[in-house]
Amino acid sequence: MTEKNEKTHKTIEQAEQEGKYIRKVRSFVKREGRLTNNQERAINDHWQTMGLNHSDGVIDAPTLFANENPVVLEIGFGMGKSLVEMAKAAPELNFIGIEVHKPGVGACISSAVEESVSNLKVYEHDAIEILADCIPDDTLTTVQLFFPDPWHKKKHHKRRIVSAEFVETIRQKLKVGGVFHMATDWENYAECMLEDMQSAPCYNNLSESNDYVPRPDSRPLTKFENRGQNLGHGVWDLQFAKKA
Ligand SMILES: C[S@@+](CC[C@H](N)C(=O)[O-])C[C@H]1O[C@@H](n2cnc3c(N)ncnc32)[C@H](O)[C@@H]1O
Repeated sequence: MTEKNEKTHKTIEQAEQEGKYIRKVRSFVKREGRLTNNQERAINDHWQTMGLNHSDGVIDAPTLFANENPVVLEIGFGMGKSLVEMAKAAPELNFIGIEVHKPGVGACISSAVEESVSNLKVYEHDAIEILADCIPDDTLTTVQLFFPDPWHKKKHHKRRIVSAEFVETIRQKLKVGGVFHMATDWENYAECMLEDMQSAPCYNNLSESNDYVPRPDSRPLTKFENRGQNLGHGVWDLQFAKKA
């Protein structure tokens, strides 16, 4: 470490110790879009049963869901359409969704109620903080990350949620044999994801060709994806299992 870096490092540490706010690079820009009446009603009426709060700290999934079913965590579920579809199709699993965009959270709760889905709970918060503060290690059966913001421009790549540090955090949260499933329609992001996963210790690529897997039936095809495929655009799915 150079003298200059050491100085910067010490300064950040000191600031954190003093409880000062350190601005971190985030994978999202908070858009305060208006909630529709339906989304607002869904949150007000059902947060008590479906909402999870960062401030409540570490969760115990068997207590939350009142069963011992395996837990699937989805990061950045958007409007929650595919998450609700997956939860409805797999009542033998418990689903936890994390999304920062409040209208998406409202839309997801509204669809879950409409579809009588009861094996799903959601956070409206930054997934990085939820992983650090609320999800116990070695507890998840699946982590899914579908179409994360690609941050196309090179100068914005540091905002991409997938990084060596992120894939290591996910590994810690998965049970042995648990699967990290990512999908993207941005080839350069897919290549970076593959590189990060291949460099990470203790993951086993489930791809027969040692790169990507075909879309598993468990991941619903979105309208957007369907249209993209008809136009010849690609989608890349990656699935890696945590080794013992
Ligand atoms: C491109 S959208 C994809 C949404 C959805 N997965 C889909 O396939 O339609 C990415 C989503 O991730 C959310 N997001 C980005 N960073 C996040 C973070 N750190 N924590 C939670 N959600 C995040 C964004 O708000 C956005 O809704």
